[in-house]
Amino acid sequence: MTDELIQQLSKLIAEDIKSAPAAASVEQLVERLKRDERIERVIQVNADNALGFQTFVEEGGTANVGIHLHDFDVEKLQQVLKVFWKSLQPKESPNNLPRSGVAKFVGRDAELEKLHIQLQKGELVAISAIAGMGGVGKTELAIQYAKTFKAAYPAGVCWLLAREMNIGTQIVGYALVQLGLRVPDGIELPDQVSFCWRNWPEGNALIVLDDVTNYPNVEPYLPPDNPRFKVLLTTRLKFGPPVQTLPLGVLAPEKSLELLEVLIGKERVEAELEVTKSLCDWLGHLPLGLELVGRYLASMEDLSISEMLFRLQQKAQARKAIEDEALDTDQETWTLTAKRGVKAAFELSWDVLDEKSQHLGKLLSLFALAPIPWELAEQVKQKHCEMYPENGEFVTEEFRKARGNLLKFHLLQVAGQGAYQLHSLIREFFRNKLEGEVDVKG
Ligand SMILES: Nc1ncnc2c1ncn2[C@@H]1O[C@H](COP(=O)(O)OP(=O)(O)OP(=O)(O)O)[C@@H](O)[C@H]1O
Ligand SMILES: [Mg+2]
Repeated sequence: MTDELIQQLSKLIAEDIKSAPAAASVEQLVERLKRDERIERVIQVNADNALGFQTFVEEGGTANVGIHLHDFDVEKLQQVLKVFWKSLQPKESPNNLPRSGVAKFVGRDAELEKLHIQLQKGELVAISAIAGMGGVGKTELAIQYAKTFKAAYPAGVCWLLAREMNIGTQIVGYALVQLGLRVPDGIELPDQVSFCWRNWPEGNALIVLDDVTNYPNVEPYLPPDNPRFKVLLTTRLKFGPPVQTLPLGVLAPEKSLELLEVLIGKERVEAELEVTKSLCDWLGHLPLGLELVGRYLASMEDLSISEMLFRLQQKAQARKAIEDEALDTDQETWTLTAKRGVKAAFELSWDVLDEKSQHLGKLLSLFALAPIPWELAEQVKQKHCEMYPENGEFVTEEFRKARGNLLKFHLLQVAGQGAYQLHSLIREFFRNKLEGEVDVKG
């Protein structure tokens, strides 16, 4: 009977370990259960069928890890173990990481490692910046870094939007919601922020400032000089000391091919391998451009890749005729290539959007560069319809369908909890549509 039970236990725990390998203590428990010669005493039988589970912890000692059990009721025991198992799980450190929108994260292993080393070294606060052009994958790299290395930050990951929102308010908000700090009211914001840093939980913490456009503006909000605070910025700009920069380039050719394969399927890529390689080159291997083209191709299964490349080239030609590219001569060639590619990809997607979806894109571009609560977008649209009845009435389903179209073409991303977000470049493109074709810088 006991053997059978132990087998059940081992199986259950092994399954749990598979889904959460971090909790080595349970693994140890399985081993202990298997090896313990005094196995009879591992499970304690008690009166009145109280749920219970007891095991040896050290020589001579025992630990109660549940509520006592009378019969060998496997189901009940499993229940107990679940409770026990949960209590052994490492507590999830606080974080407010944004959702990643990648089909598959490709080609940044070396950068992830480099970034980790850069952030860990140094006696002072390590400030690292991921720098590079729009759409190259800076924000994504920061998200993936925080996810991959979250165990190195037991005091949490605090994600701050540096571009448009007040950073001080965000820090205080994070401390209230994620850390449960009682930040005093009635004092100035800088003092509230200092309070937060002083009362931050013990251990290393990662503070991410996404999309810094002006370093002097964010500097006053940086955490105090304490090596446990690691600061990571993402920016399109280049900074000097004390910021250490990790320049981020476009993807390696084989990695952009891999990304397209994930988006449109291996067969389609293999059927036109050489053209697909040219397409990736033409897009300058910029992840955002690849993503837009991939989604466009995915939505049109009959479209050949050579026809896609032709359409993109046509778009770029047409744009060149109306834009003054001389303004960009200080930029490197690869940046120009990548920019031209993403713009042409956006234009193609724009052309296939129906009017309502185009309108939604333009409307969302008026919101701040932060997650937009969908409810709010609906309210704004509704008000707009009331004010201008000649433009038609507000229909919830139509509005949501338009959202679906933008999501399909990667022109909009889910930000979690009923909120959506425009990528900064896409937002600029939509804005230009709204304001009437002005050149985009980025
Ligand atoms: N390594 C990657 N693998 C797959 N997809 C990626 C990768 N990096 C970025 N992406 C995709 O490319 C898009 C652009 O990336 P991201 O938003 O990180 O760019 P960015 O450099 O932060 O741009 P900006 O300067 O405009 O903020 C994202 O939507 C993401 O889906
Ligand atoms: Mg970004």
